[in-house]
Amino acid sequence: MQEETNGGAIDLEAEWRGMQRRLVERLKGGQKSDLADGVVDLDTRVYTDEARFAAERQRIFREEPMLVAFSRELAEPGDRVVFDAAGPPIVVIRGADRSLRAFLNMCTHRGARLVNDCKPSKGLLCPFHGWTFALEGELSGVPLAQAFEGIDRKALGLVRVPVAEWNGMVFVKAQPGEDQIDVEAFLGPIAPLLTALDLGSLDKVRADRLDLRANWKLALDMGREVYHVPFVHRNTIGRNLHANVAIFDCYGRHNRFSGASLDFDELVGTPEEEWPEMRYQGVHYLFPNVTLSFTHVFDGKTPVVTMSRVFPGDSIGEAMTLMATYKRGGADAAPDEQVAALHDAVLGIVGSEDYSVAETVWQNISNGAQHMKFPLGRNELLVQRYHRDVAERIGMPLP
Ligand code: FES
Ligand SMILES: [Fe+2]
Repeated sequence: MQEETNGGAIDLEAEWRGMQRRLVERLKGGQKSDLADGVVDLDTRVYTDEARFAAERQRIFREEPMLVAFSRELAEPGDRVVFDAAGPPIVVIRGADRSLRAFLNMCTHRGARLVNDCKPSKGLLCPFHGWTFALEGELSGVPLAQAFEGIDRKALGLVRVPVAEWNGMVFVKAQPGEDQIDVEAFLGPIAPLLTALDLGSLDKVRADRLDLRANWKLALDMGREVYHVPFVHRNTIGRNLHANVAIFDCYGRHNRFSGASLDFDELVGTPEEEWPEMRYQGVHYLFPNVTLSFTHVFDGKTPVVTMSRVFPGDSIGEAMTLMATYKRGGADAAPDEQVAALHDAVLGIVGSEDYSVAETVWQNISNGAQHMKFPLGRNELLVQRYHRDVAERIGMPLP
């Protein structure tokens, strides 16, 4: 495992070469995976305790920056994205001045929801009584204005929500306010790597929502280790991956994993100068809830990214995942139909393979029969760290 602390620009090719070397070492050696220092016991109350759940919803999902989109989804004035998953209904809009603003998706007359879709528009029209708002949030029109004489129109603009756009990534904080989001401080040592990934050049090809009956952290745990792959994904992704081969990198609270596909066999025992060309691939985890899987899976040169975000549901035993697949804009070599088919396949695997197991875990631990301590292995180090980071963020020590 590597612990990253330094900044500076990153050359993705050199980065990938370093990762390949480490993966080849893992393949050749007896120790297949980067390992944590020790086994950590995890009390099942981290999933079932209502007080923790309430603290997670507030301290994490309202107070941490939430990734809502990549910039090309909101490229032009009037483009917008709606975001309800963290709690309050939010709409992010690009103004005529090309800056992004975010607001509660709520009319200031009597509270109706303003927009439901992402269709671009020149302003926002409330469907209840027809008040209109400019892209910049000001109240711009009131039908039958004489009935509202004397109101302070300035005070009736849309309610602001913090938003920031950084290197093609758009973040909000899911509560009203005008504070600045310091994205670089939030990302810390993973910022240079995300800059190199150039996520602002990506076009969204397909998006879906997946619900599950389990605590939200069980959904995230599934994606943070590969120990389960030979069993849960025996007939799908497990077929093309070396079992348990894994390298992990930690960037503060954010992480990266990479595994070895079977074509890494060609690299073992071959001098590095003769390695066939392969491009960067990795799975990036942004605290608290984002997974960015970055590959060149189609033609070896077109970046394809699957972004998945997990959110708590209305109760402690419900969660939701928003999953979307993107490709680098203007890349014809990876036709949209193929990218969409990949998206559907990944969605199917996550739903029917990963989440169906997570739901059995939830059924077993949530019936109140028994608290347990689960031993998280040294190879499950991202799961270990993740629970530690969540506990730290909510200010409640691990039980
Ligand atoms: S609630 Fe929007 S115009 Fe009345
Ligand atoms: Fe999985």
